[in-house]
Amino acid sequence: MKQPTEPKTHSFRPIRTGIAIGVILTVTAIMASTFKTTDKLTEEDVKTKNKTNRAPINRDSVESVKAFASVYKVLMSPRCMNCHPAGDVPLQGDDSHLHTMGPKRGAEGKGLYAMKCSNCHQPTNTPGVHTPPGNPNWHLPPATMRMVFQGRTPHQLAKQLMDPKQNGNKTKEQLLEHAHDGLVLGGWNPGEGRTLPPMSHAEFTKAWTTWIKKGAYAPKP
Ligand code: HEC
Ligand code: HEC
Repeated sequence: MKQPTEPKTHSFRPIRTGIAIGVILTVTAIMASTFKTTDKLTEEDVKTKNKTNRAPINRDSVESVKAFASVYKVLMSPRCMNCHPAGDVPLQGDDSHLHTMGPKRGAEGKGLYAMKCSNCHQPTNTPGVHTPPGNPNWHLPPATMRMVFQGRTPHQLAKQLMDPKQNGNKTKEQLLEHAHDGLVLGGWNPGEGRTLPPMSHAEFTKAWTTWIKKGAYAPKP
């Protein structure tokens, strides 16, 4: 193989090049030192940055963790936790007791055999007390991705929500959108006799968005 030979047309000017390199080095040094003083990265930050390969804007661990405290209250409220149980049977009522007649999750979360969720849970709420709440898509998370909330500490739940292996492979954008998912919205229209989550849907969305956009920090264990 022949190497193409470059004609030597450049005439180097050692002094000017020297000055130019000097200027570049100084600018780099100044930039580096400003970064060091203004952007105090924790080990956690570096890990997340490496993972997502892009730095979210306006990281603020204090604001983020504060917002998660509100998020956690909603997630652990019966309207949400009843479908995010530790076991394979959904929960019912404001005391989150095991679902009567014990319908099971099944592989897809839609129930098993004669106990399919949609046999009793209609596309809309059934009128009256102690009737099944409705949604066209009423089911538990699937067996391969159980998305358990029950029993999780704030630290554990925050970590889990951001882990693609445990949250259904959701990106931050998809998680943000999930605040408007039909099953989530249903929490604020739960059917007669059921208490609402501890804040409005707008307040929840605000806390959820702040938590994620400020860096999705997990509270200390
Ligand atoms: C009828 C059962 C049901 C109810 C009630 C329910 N969810 Fe879910 N939830 C699911 C299912 C099923 C999935 C998984 C489907 C998906 O990923 O879209 C899910 C997924 C999620 C996820 C994304 C997965 C994760 O771990 O990050 C979040 C967040 C979530 N739910 C929050 C809530 C909140 C908040 C409420 C209450 C306001 C709620 N859910 C009520 C069934 C339910
Ligand atoms: C045989 C009928 C039947 C089947 C099958 C059934 N449910 Fe229910 N479900 C009900 C009734 C009735 C209620 C209301 C009970 C009450 O309020 O006392 C209910 C309530 C619930 C609640 C409580 C809602 C809340 O906000 O507290 C959840 C969660 C739930 N069901 C999930 C499921 C899931 C998931 C499946 C499928 C795996 C399922 N159910 C299968 C009849 C059924």
